[in-house]
Amino acid sequence: MNTIEASEKVRDLHEKLNHHNYRYYVLDDPEVSDTEYDHLLRELQNFEDKFPELKTPDSPTQRIGAAPLEAFQSVSHAVPMLSLDNAFGFVELREFDERVKRLLEITGDIEYVVEPKIDGVAVELVYENGIFIQGSTRGDGFVGEEVTQNLKTIRAIPMRLFSENPPQRLDVRGEVYYTRDGFIKLNKEREAKGEPTYANPRNTAAGSLRQLDSKITARRPLHIFIHSFGQAIGQQFTAHSSALEIFKRWGFSVNPHIQACQGIESAISHCEKIISLRDQLEYEIDGAVVKIDSHVLQAQAGTRSRSPRWAVALKFEAKQATTKINDIIVQVGRTGAITPVADMEPVKIDGVEISRATLHNQDEIDRKDVRVGDWVVIQRAGDVIPEVVKVILSKRLKGTVKFTLPTICPECGAHVVRIEGEAVHRCQNLSCPAQLKEGIRYFAAKRALDIEGLGTKLVDQLVETGLVKNVADFFSLTKEQLAGLDRMADKSAQNIIDSIEKSKQVDLSRLLYAFGMRHVGEHVARVLAQQFRTVENLKQATVEDLQNTHEIGPQVAESVHAFFHEEENLQTIERLIKFGVKIKEIEGVLDTRFDGKIFVFTGSLQLFTRDEAEKIVQNWGGRATSSVSKKTDYVVIGENAGSKAAKARELGITILTEKEFKELLEQ
Ligand code: IVH
Repeated sequence: MNTIEASEKVRDLHEKLNHHNYRYYVLDDPEVSDTEYDHLLRELQNFEDKFPELKTPDSPTQRIGAAPLEAFQSVSHAVPMLSLDNAFGFVELREFDERVKRLLEITGDIEYVVEPKIDGVAVELVYENGIFIQGSTRGDGFVGEEVTQNLKTIRAIPMRLFSENPPQRLDVRGEVYYTRDGFIKLNKEREAKGEPTYANPRNTAAGSLRQLDSKITARRPLHIFIHSFGQAIGQQFTAHSSALEIFKRWGFSVNPHIQACQGIESAISHCEKIISLRDQLEYEIDGAVVKIDSHVLQAQAGTRSRSPRWAVALKFEAKQATTKINDIIVQVGRTGAITPVADMEPVKIDGVEISRATLHNQDEIDRKDVRVGDWVVIQRAGDVIPEVVKVILSKRLKGTVKFTLPTICPECGAHVVRIEGEAVHRCQNLSCPAQLKEGIRYFAAKRALDIEGLGTKLVDQLVETGLVKNVADFFSLTKEQLAGLDRMADKSAQNIIDSIEKSKQVDLSRLLYAFGMRHVGEHVARVLAQQFRTVENLKQATVEDLQNTHEIGPQVAESVHAFFHEEENLQTIERLIKFGVKIKEIEGVLDTRFDGKIFVFTGSLQLFTRDEAEKIVQNWGGRATSSVSKKTDYVVIGENAGSKAAKARELGITILTEKEFKELLEQ
């Protein structure tokens, strides 16, 4: 057989294999047996062995994995991969509908498409002239990791589009997922081999996609649903629903529970349907996505910096489980706050084992009447700390007693007091070791001074041995002192000294955050650093000066003022400087994020006065004007915005709601 004959044969085999693949993995409706499929694949492999020049990157033989990689390459997404705004409940979905109608000036029903929100790993697949050439993870939305070899092992991804006339370029996006069954099976196998198990199907999918050796990925039953696209050159899609139809025709796997809906009420009914299906699906979903169907309207609605205005994710309620409380312990935090925590029989929610849940404070304990020995419902929502929802009273045993917080601190024995008007109880001892330890951990944490290697145990040791009584003491620690601690090798001691040294160069904003002043989180710390620029200025600032700063309210002003008027704190700052800490103060102009940008505010604002909003823009290098022109960069609309908003839309100027403007400030 010559090359020409062979190449025809190879093309024929490609077509057959792609077709059977599609029938099996996308339609779940095979036409041939596995043996027949394997037979065709082997035939193709034989041809490729004999005629290596016929082996192309889109060949079905490429699905078995390739040589392992050293590392993943970075890939920029041609169009950023945005995330979705959340709506919690149908009320917020209706608010979303109101919002887009106002924005688009539409009074009738909007056509939506409602889809399950797949709890998987977001990827982008790039097709050039119909051939799959590159695949990547979402990463930070702008740059992801190239995982082409791994994605090729997913049989539901077409290597080549089923189209006579494919677009020049198409970037489709979807969610790679693991089925629940697949997850359980894989974990059983791993457990039997003594390998660590995965927490949930989502983590399994992520772990499988991030294998440097694609032969491992090839053994994992990964699936995909395509739900959107980025760049498309040489193909016009008029609406989301028609794009999905075309994707199906081209061989992509699209979720079968997607439905076009006329108006928000119909969209809500379909969300209810999806919720009712949730537990029967083979894969996990964590919400429903509601998208405006028309691409013209999508474009008109536009996007915010991180998410489109034309779509929203309805998040499902938190997952719950029941378990038994073995004990209630109390923890003492950095500010002396006493938090009751339930110590429970371990139980899994969504594959994550939980044995602790917060009981918040005495009022919450009283309200729910939680007692040691009770059976309770606990829940976990997203990344938040699990909490006890309610007691199952029918299971309560005789002899249980009401729980009250101790009146003395379990760590230092000092009095615990509840301040009028506050829900929390606090230990009143400023040098309580528990508070000191927590304060030190906070100071050294990643978002603060970022001192690497200071784990919980080490902080405990440093405080207990008296080496660190105050955060400044870190900077006078010697290697010998550290090496003298229990279980501390010379090398580790040196590493810690090195990371302490590294943390000596610190931005003023981080340092302010690290001090852990009440009401001063990361954002407020940044605002303070920007406005006051130096420690000296902060020391001089009056409560009034502080309060005159945008975003600084009376509570923050009081707290900052009090901090800088406490002798002990000033001494700490002096010692920090003496031990070589260099505070990088802000010089020159303030934040210039709005440099040269022109803003117009219109309608009635709720979150700011017009004056305040304009002042912020000016402080940050921009200008606020009163009429919309081609030169305007942003139009911020409040309630009942009228002709200026319309004009902005006409001129294609970015329109921000007040909330979005606020988000922009907080970035
Ligand atoms: S549309 C700009 N549709 O959810 C909108 N996303 O929180 C782009 N996701 O990163 C996405 N199911 O990976 C869309 N049916 C669905 C989805 C979905 C899951 C993921 C997506 C995105 C994240 C946003």
